[in-house]
Amino acid sequence: MSDFNTTIRQLAERHRSFYIYRQSMIEDNIRALKSSFKNAQFLYSVKTNPFEPVLKTVVRQGLGFDAASLNEVLMGEKLGLARDKIYYSAPGKTRDDIVGAAGRSVIIADSLNELEMLQSVAKETGKKLDTGIRINPDFTLGSESGVSSKFGIDYDILKENIQWINSLDMLNITGIHVHSRSQELNRQTLTRYYENMLKLAVFVKENLAPGLKFVNMGGGLGIPYSCGQRPLDIHGLGRAFDEMAEKFLEQIPGVKIFIESGRYIVGKAGTYVTTVLDKKVSMGKTYVILHNTLNGFIRPSLAMLVEAYANGNLFGSEPLYTQKDAFEFSAPFSDGQPEQVTLCGNLCTATDVVAKDITLPALKPGDIITISNAGSYAAVLSPMQFASLPAPAQIFFTSDGLIK
Ligand SMILES: Cc1ncc(COP(=O)(O)O)c(C=O)c1O
Repeated sequence: MSDFNTTIRQLAERHRSFYIYRQSMIEDNIRALKSSFKNAQFLYSVKTNPFEPVLKTVVRQGLGFDAASLNEVLMGEKLGLARDKIYYSAPGKTRDDIVGAAGRSVIIADSLNELEMLQSVAKETGKKLDTGIRINPDFTLGSESGVSSKFGIDYDILKENIQWINSLDMLNITGIHVHSRSQELNRQTLTRYYENMLKLAVFVKENLAPGLKFVNMGGGLGIPYSCGQRPLDIHGLGRAFDEMAEKFLEQIPGVKIFIESGRYIVGKAGTYVTTVLDKKVSMGKTYVILHNTLNGFIRPSLAMLVEAYANGNLFGSEPLYTQKDAFEFSAPFSDGQPEQVTLCGNLCTATDVVAKDITLPALKPGDIITISNAGSYAAVLSPMQFASLPAPAQIFFTSDGLIK
């Protein structure tokens, strides 16, 4: 058993760069969700961080999976999740994906074509399929009108096709799924969205799915990336949600209401640790060269690039870009005089810059830098094969202070 900082120091002797995920934080976050929302069940969005010890922790806490590929469905099956704990939703599924996932998960059809494909697969096997439909509703998380989207079936198109969908005799439409977007910190915005979702579910129950079994609200629970941001009031949101959910469940008893989350569960539980390889001065500017930055943890460098080119138009850039000050850079074991430095990586590209002109204690080769908020959309998004450098390790720090 050892404390977190000692562990980082010891691990840095063996790995020049690594992710470390704290089990106790993941468990605390899940507890906070479960205790705040009495009437919701949570699905972990595997795509945010599929590291196996993370998945095992989440499954042990009773969560199901929001799977975005057949591989993620298989990960859930391997960890013992029953079919009705895995919800497979993604655009562009192939017939093989559907055949592979059919007995192992509840498949959410993303288009009319997918409904047709599901009907044909079910016919072939002679087994009726419980199926969900992803809807692109006439509202979003944050507005009362819809937007064009590559995800799901537009609400209007769904209405026009009710008769046709009802004629698909091998499918039981048992649920709906909407995911509008991620990273919302405002309780009222999320409350209004949940309210709209429950209304949509009533419409679907009355017109399309008399056997409605689930309403999947998607994700959206945000985390504060910088210290200036106020965390989402998760207890207040849960209370507002429960009030609405209780009324909904009186009207339609027995329906499961799912909320998906990846970021809220693991985002802040991960830290990226890297090592100073070199330091130099060029035309009066001090550059610190770090191990595996853009290739190991792409989001900080990407944030710099996006800001340089986006001209303020940053809508829809999640999960690649959240905000300017989303990551904190620290040198927890250095105590030199403060100096202004630019932090770069060891790739042969000038875009490999993670922080410009920030102040840190004077650094030297071998010193350690930590980067915060590295639990979600971090390792999974990073181009680790770039320049054929050895990829960063991924390490799990258990609640007992052990390393996995
Ligand atoms: C369908 C779906 N559900 C859930 C999530 C995760 O949401 P969050 O980032 O709010 O945890 C995503 C992320 O892209 C998603 O596409």
